[in-house]
Amino acid sequence: MRKKKYKINNFLAKLKKIMPTYIQPKFYNDKELLLWNQEQGKKYSESIIRKNKAMKIKQLLGRSGIKELYINCSFNNYYINHEGHRKVLYAARKYAENFKNNIASFIFSGRPGTGKNHLASAIGNYLILHGYNILIITVADLMSTIKSTFNRSLTKITEEKLLQNLSTVDLLIIDEIGMQIESRYEKMIINQIIDRRSSSKKSTGMLSNLNHKQLKNLLGERVVDRMCLGNSLWLTFEWESYRKNIYGNK
Ligand SMILES: Nc1ncnc2c1ncn2[C@@H]1O[C@H](COP(=O)(O)OP(=O)(O)O)[C@@H](O)[C@H]1O
Ligand SMILES: [Mg+2]
Repeated sequence: MRKKKYKINNFLAKLKKIMPTYIQPKFYNDKELLLWNQEQGKKYSESIIRKNKAMKIKQLLGRSGIKELYINCSFNNYYINHEGHRKVLYAARKYAENFKNNIASFIFSGRPGTGKNHLASAIGNYLILHGYNILIITVADLMSTIKSTFNRSLTKITEEKLLQNLSTVDLLIIDEIGMQIESRYEKMIINQIIDRRSSSKKSTGMLSNLNHKQLKNLLGERVVDRMCLGNSLWLTFEWESYRKNIYGNK
């Protein structure tokens, strides 16, 4: 071991001598090299965990849990431009960190572009890394997946089996609630899913541009009350759309 260490340091020293001065070596000694290797190993095993979790969701529903656009969203790249941002970031991070001991649900309410999906995906990405199954799905996608089960030539999975799967995902986040006027059938399905999930002690997230009263009107008092039990989180995103920063004046 000592011999090997000597060899590496000797090699690094030799390399330094022959390298032009404008090139800075990445490591100065064996310790730095070892640390770098460990870091790379950690990154690699994290990426394997992500891939495995993603595969499980794929088997369950034929798609990945978090859409491509949001796969890189994390707490660290959610920028704080004012107090409101700081508050929601803190609460969302806390929610993810305490997920294990909690069956709390959450509702993020606010106008489009205010970062609801970003923080919901940050929670999702964090939980996937910690071994959970998660799925973020819009009401429209949820309904078309359910409707596809009516056509036996499209899929082998039954409506009952799909609802069962949706109730066993560790965290289900339903996106774009209230984007269109939901039909009675859609409301019934959302009610059923929330009911099943809360009786199997699973948390659910909702992303919506509706406020508390509008959401109650749309989904019914009972569901919204269920979503607000215990340590559940209601966050209001009441600032300008972030898309302006990305695309200019939109
Ligand atoms: N505070 C923020 N810091 C960094 N990126 C943000 C922030 N808020 C929003 N974004 C980015 O702006 C875009 C729109 O946000 P999104 O989360 O889709 O909004 P919403 O779901 O509320 O409509 C996304 O690309 C998101 O990553
Ligand atoms: Mg959104």
